Amino acid sequence: MHHNGSGPAGSSVRRVVVAVTGASGSVYARRTLEILRELPGVESHLVVSRSGAATLRHELGWRPSQLAALADVNHSVGDVGAAIASGSYPVAAMLVVPCSIKTLSAIATSYGADLISRAADVTLKEGRPLLLMLRETPLHLGHLRLMTTAAELGAIIAPPVPAMYRLPTSIDDIVDYTVRRALDRVGLATVEDPWLGLAPPSAPPPAAPPPAGPVPTSAPAAPSPAGFVRPTSNRS
Ligand SMILES: Cc1cc2nc3c(=O)[nH]c(=O)nc-3n(C[C@H](O)[C@H](O)[C@H](O)COP(=O)(O)O)c2cc1C
Repeated sequence: MHHNGSGPAGSSVRRVVVAVTGASGSVYARRTLEILRELPGVESHLVVSRSGAATLRHELGWRPSQLAALADVNHSVGDVGAAIASGSYPVAAMLVVPCSIKTLSAIATSYGADLISRAADVTLKEGRPLLLMLRETPLHLGHLRLMTTAAELGAIIAPPVPAMYRLPTSIDDIVDYTVRRALDRVGLATVEDPWLGLAPPSAPPPAAPPPAGPVPTSAPAAPSPAGFVRPTSNRS
């Protein structure tokens, strides 16, 4: 374990494990660590798989040490004796960002051969939030079955699917919103502008003139509005 020394001290600290595996999407890992740094009272623990390091190099041109500098505490993926490998070590949540199919498979079958799958297994057995930002496409039936198994065990399956209804204008927009929704889902709320629904139609169409002839005795049903507004709830 390597401690960067910048993490908060004291009993109110919320430890968050961020595991980075070899699926495409290293940029989601970087953004997750950047946002966690801004959250008060959070201590981030980072584990990067060998393939995660290779993908980081390929996609961002980053060395693992550059990602490590964003975390409060760094663990080696082979260190199955690390603190986060034990359920007695208090952890608020764990995110696997991005999550490969291989690591999903290990988690779904409790195959704790490295620190990532072991820490994830511990997170599940302790009933703590575990989010898998799984990235693969297309998905065969075996992938879907593994996802079902992991979900039955309590994992949150959260593929990084862009929310186009937020009208993103850049990849950074897409990445930022995806990461914030993932953090929200494990109890680390950061979304500041929740979706309030589509805007209502600007002006109702002019009323049709009344039909000629006798006035009906029962009022016709009110027309349903073309748009809708959800004033309080967030949209998934
Ligand atoms: C550039 C690159 C992109 C990859 N993208 C994916 C992916 O999107 N999803 C996936 O499941 N595996 C992907 N892989 C394959 C995994 O890295 C590979 O299965 C690896 O063994 C996963 O190990 P890990 O889970 O320990 O990181 C990719 C590999 C490379 C080199």
